[in-house]
Amino acid sequence: MADRLSPWKRLLLLMASFFLSESTSTTRFPKDLEAINVVSSEQSFQYPSFQGLLQDNDTLRLGLDFQRMLRINHVLYIAARDHVFAVNLTVASEHFIPQLKLTWKSKDVSKCTVRGKNSDECYNYVKVLVPRNDETLFACGTNAFNPTCRNYRMTSLEQVGEEVVGQARCPFESGQSNVGLFAGGDFYSATMTDFLASDAVIYRSLGDGRPVLRTVKYDSKWLREPHFLHAIDYGNYVYFFLSEIAVEYTTLGKVVFSRVARVCKNDNGGSPRVLDRYWTSFLKARLNCSVPGDSFFYFDILQSLTNVLQINQRPAVVGAFTTQANSIPGSAVCAFYMDDIEKVFNGKFKEQRTGDSSWTPVPDEQVPRPRPGTCAGDGPASEYKSSTQFPDEVLTFIKSYPLMDEAVPSINGRPCFTRTSSRSKLTQIVVDVSAGPYKDRTVMFLGSDDGRVLKVLASMHPNDSFGSRLLEDSDVYNPTKCNVQGQEDRRVLGLELDKDHHALFVAFSSCVIRMPLSRCSQHGACKRTCLASRDPYCIWLRTGSCANMAPGFKAGFEQDIEGDHSLHTDSCHADVLATMQNQDSAADSSYGVRRLPDMDQRAAANVHYTLLVACVLVAFFLGAILSGFLVSCYCSRSAAQRAGRLGKDPEASLPHALSLRSLAKLSGLLDSQPKEDKLDMSTPKMYSSFIPNGQAEPHLQSPAHQGLSLGDPELSLSQLSASHLLRPEILPSP
Ligand SMILES: *[C@@H]1O[C@H](CO)[C@@H](O)[C@H](O)[C@H]1NC(C)=O
Ligand SMILES: *[C@@H]1O[C@H](CO)[C@@H](O)[C@H](O)[C@H]1NC(C)=O
Ligand SMILES: *[C@@H]1O[C@H](CO)[C@@H](O)[C@H](O)[C@H]1NC(C)=O
Ligand SMILES: *[C@@H]1O[C@H](CO)[C@@H](O)[C@H](O)[C@H]1NC(C)=O
Repeated sequence: MADRLSPWKRLLLLMASFFLSESTSTTRFPKDLEAINVVSSEQSFQYPSFQGLLQDNDTLRLGLDFQRMLRINHVLYIAARDHVFAVNLTVASEHFIPQLKLTWKSKDVSKCTVRGKNSDECYNYVKVLVPRNDETLFACGTNAFNPTCRNYRMTSLEQVGEEVVGQARCPFESGQSNVGLFAGGDFYSATMTDFLASDAVIYRSLGDGRPVLRTVKYDSKWLREPHFLHAIDYGNYVYFFLSEIAVEYTTLGKVVFSRVARVCKNDNGGSPRVLDRYWTSFLKARLNCSVPGDSFFYFDILQSLTNVLQINQRPAVVGAFTTQANSIPGSAVCAFYMDDIEKVFNGKFKEQRTGDSSWTPVPDEQVPRPRPGTCAGDGPASEYKSSTQFPDEVLTFIKSYPLMDEAVPSINGRPCFTRTSSRSKLTQIVVDVSAGPYKDRTVMFLGSDDGRVLKVLASMHPNDSFGSRLLEDSDVYNPTKCNVQGQEDRRVLGLELDKDHHALFVAFSSCVIRMPLSRCSQHGACKRTCLASRDPYCIWLRTGSCANMAPGFKAGFEQDIEGDHSLHTDSCHADVLATMQNQDSAADSSYGVRRLPDMDQRAAANVHYTLLVACVLVAFFLGAILSGFLVSCYCSRSAAQRAGRLGKDPEASLPHALSLRSLAKLSGLLDSQPKEDKLDMSTPKMYSSFIPNGQAEPHLQSPAHQGLSLGDPELSLSQLSASHLLRPEILPSP
């Protein structure tokens, strides 16, 4: 397409982009925090790890193929390919080995290979592992493209009862996303229900007395190529967190948004006329994780989310987000109050009046009563005993308008942590909201796709006097233990906190590593670095040593979380200095909390500067047009003469080459002053959804998936992710 643009249009485009990038330098974007402490792979090398059954031929060839982890009391369950393991956490600090193991292999392997599928998928990937009640675990596996579920006794991993069909409860392939949970005896699941991942569903089944319900099939207003991340049972509702192609954002091709969706637990489906056996309470809203400024920068793709926690004494969830897949890499952590989510679900609905108009709020007078999305028997719907009795107009409305107009704002209207200068992305999050001796600190552990775990002291309160701090950056991936046949997969796929034993379990595709929550003893007898670590898990004891905080420790120690340097004057050895410098710069770059006065001045100076540049450019531009015009008149005549003589294409005629070169020179000149600023500030702000149509493959994480053709692009296997990056991909049998 670019070839067809005339030289003048190209010049115009160049000018326009130059103006755009120039004006962005007025927005100040948070700088990445520097880590106070760094744990290198040499130091993490000795952390205990688990790689599955090393005497097993399949494991030697394919690795563990970790799927998910679940901690119940003092047992950690690890679901992988063909196996579930149970690890006693009380003894895991010494020997990280499972006490129990369950082997569940597929019997259908021959049928699976006959179907022409890649034989690596002809295994049983255990994708669902959830508690069903106090004694029973519910597990589902892909079972060689024949998803199946079973119940197991928690204490012995013995099967109880019969197998049930796994379709709509478990995906067909290990790479497809899914979530599931039991609430009030019903199993809520969200996954793909078919081979080709074309039919995505939020589904309820297995309950006594409640009908099976699902989302409307192939309706892009309900779900559009979703990637399911998490489900939460909270109050009268079950919440689903996902990312999907945004229907309401049509102008720039496929863009992925993060959503929270909600259904009532007492939903019984619609009337025989409308929404019979479909949800009557399905609503969804966008999650807004963005950096505010002159124009916004959005982190739109949810990667991982916590359960409901208390933040500032209010129920909230915390999520790790990244930018659109083919924009500049960037990650952020945003928290959302549950009551802010409620507020959005009680707000306006969104509609598109005609096929190509933009999406606008539905006027209040057009919303039927009782308000769509209300649970039967609740508030305005209190006179309705069951959702099957709702008026048809209510059911018809919610069928067409499940999307809310407003986005859920994040706590304090900004991320509590960002990372934009690293090429790696955050993939996992766990949060400890009761860290430290007074159980009043929030520490987040963030896993990345390059094998690191970041430990962040989070500043969540608007009146906090300090910003978030990056306490520790640990390189956890252990190539000697986690590589499979020389292949690396450094993506962190799971994190599980075991505070009782001061441990964090970090899962990769081929191994699970147990790391300590802190390494305070490395500060030895140096009080200064001990306190400067700002680590809520580290305390300075009166006996003269730095120690990991033990539960119940309330007195006889010192900590300095918020950082008052003046107090500590005793010096240790030389490398203390380095640590202090690190820590100082971390404090300097603490962002967004307070705007220092001189920052405002600098921002104002930037505005002036932009104006100046704009004037110079306009003048230059006018001059360029004039002179370009003259030169082009002259040259095109002589070029035409030459072309006539030589019979050659006059494409390479001088005028635009000249002007482009001089423009490049000029922009180089203008660049020289604010170069660093420009690089830092402008890149992240270019809105990440300037993606040419059809190129957005939001969840493809590896080049191995590119060029995957399924005939119909709408059925792209975009949900493939995580665990199979190193595999050749599977194509459906012809
Ligand atoms: C594993 O492979 C070895 C050598 O190829 C073979 O002798 C052995 O029987 C295999 N074990 C199993 C359990 O398949
Ligand atoms: C875990 O191990 C400890 C110590 O050996 C033991 O007391 C405890 O009963 C074990 N827990 C489970 C659930 O097996
Ligand atoms: C996202 O939040 C910011 C405030 O932090 C707000 O200004 C912006 O309009 C919000 N965006 C959307 C799409 O709601
Ligand atoms: C923050 O501090 C201001 C003034 O000190 C106070 O008015 C405000 O209520 C505080 N905000 C919160 C959320 O506590």
